[in-house]
Amino acid sequence: MRILIVGNGGREHALLWKLRRDAPSAEFYTTMPNGGMAPGCEVVGIAPGDIEALSGWAAAHRIDLTIVGPEGPLAAGIVDRFQDKGLPIFGPSKNAARIESSKAYSKELMRKSGVPTAEYRTFTSQEGAEEYVRNQGAPIVVKASGLAAGKGAVVCMTEEEAFAAIDSMLGDLRFGEAGQEVVIEEYMEGEELSVFAITDGENCVLLVPSQDHKRVGEGDTGPNTGGMGAYAPVTLATDKVVADALTTVFEPTLEALSNDDSLFKGLLYAGLMLTSDGLKVVEFNCRFGDPETQVVLPLLESSLLELLGTVAEGGSLRGQEARHQRAAAVTTVVASGGYPGTYEKGNPITIPETLEKEGLMVFHAGTQLKDNSLVTSGGRVLTVTATAATFSAAADMSRAGAAQIEFEGSFFRSDIGWRERARMEIK
Ligand code: AMP
Ligand code: GLY
Repeated sequence: MRILIVGNGGREHALLWKLRRDAPSAEFYTTMPNGGMAPGCEVVGIAPGDIEALSGWAAAHRIDLTIVGPEGPLAAGIVDRFQDKGLPIFGPSKNAARIESSKAYSKELMRKSGVPTAEYRTFTSQEGAEEYVRNQGAPIVVKASGLAAGKGAVVCMTEEEAFAAIDSMLGDLRFGEAGQEVVIEEYMEGEELSVFAITDGENCVLLVPSQDHKRVGEGDTGPNTGGMGAYAPVTLATDKVVADALTTVFEPTLEALSNDDSLFKGLLYAGLMLTSDGLKVVEFNCRFGDPETQVVLPLLESSLLELLGTVAEGGSLRGQEARHQRAAAVTTVVASGGYPGTYEKGNPITIPETLEKEGLMVFHAGTQLKDNSLVTSGGRVLTVTATAATFSAAADMSRAGAAQIEFEGSFFRSDIGWRERARMEIK
């Protein structure tokens, strides 16, 4: 079997790791592998966004299954193009990917289908947006409608912060086209959960819920990032919460997408908030989350390949379930100094060999092999995942592992899972 993985972050490295366990004899190909994916993977050397070249390459190399990591190619229609050529691919169509690529679309879909989410309005005019903020007051949340690499949501505690966010999006076009339309929504309070559903458009297989850490600083302070660490399972995600997520969020959303000529086949990721009014959707993504994938897949015992393959071949997931290990996983992101702002690239990285012997998994994100040595090439450089019998043991191992990785300017959050730890201490 020949499997192509599109994308080269920590998420894709974790996908590669799991799929290799599921199919040890498969041949793997990646678009532009990072330094950790490169060994044992054939390099295609075509950028994930070059859909024409990639689909041509996949047809010529008789690829049996393509798995798309990042949202960019999905929003640009990679799945539609592969399917036109009869190539099996896992991911939603361009139309269905709007659930992530346009927050305005996703909010409207939720409103129409009664899926619980924050109250909101969308604006393209700065004056209209400012007037709405003056009427609503703070705290309030200002979001670029389009794709902004997880950095397009600004939680504003004062009206002035909201005016500044609106000005940066609609005035200065800080997010380019993605910010030419903004969604302004009600501020919600509560803990967040990331829930992944592998879906054939109708039936869902839910993976173990996890919790991301979006803020750059300890104790969830500072600006939003793509995610600084994650853990799973989350004790807050009881069977009842998961059952509610299925019936009040996933099922009505999939039905609404299907009725809107946007049948969603792929991985639907719901970012949920557990508010005092019950569960509400913060956002949808049309792909696996990063870094949540780096904790969810190490806990998944049953075959991922079977589920992804079934969906890509147009089969049904009715009656299918995912089986997870009874263990905990924690991942800590080691990032480049300055991230999520500007940072240096090309700094040499040292990863002690003992880490893997200690049972840690080091998933590469922004790394590159240059003249056979490993150097930094992105903001989030590595994610260090530990699995253990208890949350506390996994968290301690992940943090200790992250501390042993060295490169100029590196930093990480040493408090991944702090909410879960606090719950453990109360018990
Ligand atoms: P998003 O890009 O929509 O996922 O937002 C990024 C992060 O901003 C979320 O994970 C939340 O922590 C925060 N956030 C987004 N929307 C809201 C909201 N309506 N109320 C409170 N926090 C929010
Ligand atoms: N961890 C958040 C995301 O993947 O969007």
